[in-house]
Amino acid sequence: MYRIGVMGCGVVASYGHLPAIVDTPELQLAAIFDPDESRVKELGNRYPGVLQFTDADSFIEAPLDAIVIASPAPSHSSNLELAAARGLPVLCEKPLASTEQEANEMIELMKSRNLMLYTGFCYRFSPISMKIREIVQSGAIGKVRALRLMYLWNLDGKYVIHPDGEWGLNERRAERMVEGGPMVDCGVHQVDLARWWLQSEVVRHHGIGVWLEEYEAPDHVYLHMDHACGAHTMVEMSFSYSATARDPLSYFSYELIGTGGVIRYNRDGWFFEMRNGYSTQVLSGGSEKNFHGMYQEFARSLRSGEPGDLPTGEDGVIATGIARAATNEAIRNRLQVGHTVIR
Ligand SMILES: NC(=O)c1ccc[n+]([C@@H]2O[C@H](COP(=O)([O-])OP(=O)(O)OC[C@H]3O[C@@H](n4cnc5c(N)ncnc54)[C@H](O)[C@@H]3O)[C@@H](O)[C@H]2O)c1
Repeated sequence: MYRIGVMGCGVVASYGHLPAIVDTPELQLAAIFDPDESRVKELGNRYPGVLQFTDADSFIEAPLDAIVIASPAPSHSSNLELAAARGLPVLCEKPLASTEQEANEMIELMKSRNLMLYTGFCYRFSPISMKIREIVQSGAIGKVRALRLMYLWNLDGKYVIHPDGEWGLNERRAERMVEGGPMVDCGVHQVDLARWWLQSEVVRHHGIGVWLEEYEAPDHVYLHMDHACGAHTMVEMSFSYSATARDPLSYFSYELIGTGGVIRYNRDGWFFEMRNGYSTQVLSGGSEKNFHGMYQEFARSLRSGEPGDLPTGEDGVIATGIARAATNEAIRNRLQVGHTVIR
């Protein structure tokens, strides 16, 4: 059994990491840490027997074999330094850090200690995503030429009713917008999937922004990427899709267009199919995320010392770097209404 310590007991730890660690036969949820005592208590009550800490220095002294970092991005680096000093491998939530420089320093630190560092891109392990990779590799839709990857989310609107009954800023959304908005927060998963499915690096990219609501970063973003293999990926991400509608909804889909057919997935209807010259195959639908699959692979990697399908620290830096660059490009090129741009 590998004893896992988790740093950060917020939303994603609660619904994603902790249940998956507990359900993975080779892993033991040994210790949790969060500076917020109420968070430690809440999750500690859910998992009796787990060691509970509100102090990082005491947490890191617990008997542990690996660390999971699920705290906010600005704290990833200092948490990783503690793990590195103890000689422990790390699975860290995306984005690895708030800047590319800091993320690269984290990678270098782990390399210098000969320790594994993985990025928590849990989408890779969804049965949908694994099946897409299998179909692409088999050549069943020919050469993949285009990917259309969309996640249009309402993220509860810019304003919400607070507990006192007054309307106020939706802090959850505002924080994510300050960190870079939908492409940096969510689109990194799609950037990673495109690279992983195609096994081909992005050689150039271009970001275009749309402002449905006023923030510095665009709340609706298009990212266009050309891959070395000649394929083109378009990622479309939104935090404001239908947010002002009485009945807001989300739209999540993947489409891969090949010379010999297409793959189509829509999460909201759990629709998944492959069409080629021989047949139309209706495939089993499912969720776009899979923390359980990620932890099975993490257990395998702890055993073998090899990453297998786990996204490495480098994969994390590449995806976040592209998402940030595209968002910054969109901000720089924002067209002021009434201005004419002549090229
Ligand atoms: N892979 C995914 O699908 C996915 C989904 C959501 C969030 N995330 C990522 O996971 C991370 C956490 O997101 P969240 O939504 O759970 O945030 P959250 O705000 O709900 O939870 C963060 C928790 O970390 C705690 N914390 C603050 N400083 C800390 C520190 N120095 N050390 C340890 N804990 C600390 C906070 O008290 C809080 O309980 C972010 O990097 C986010 O981008 C990933």
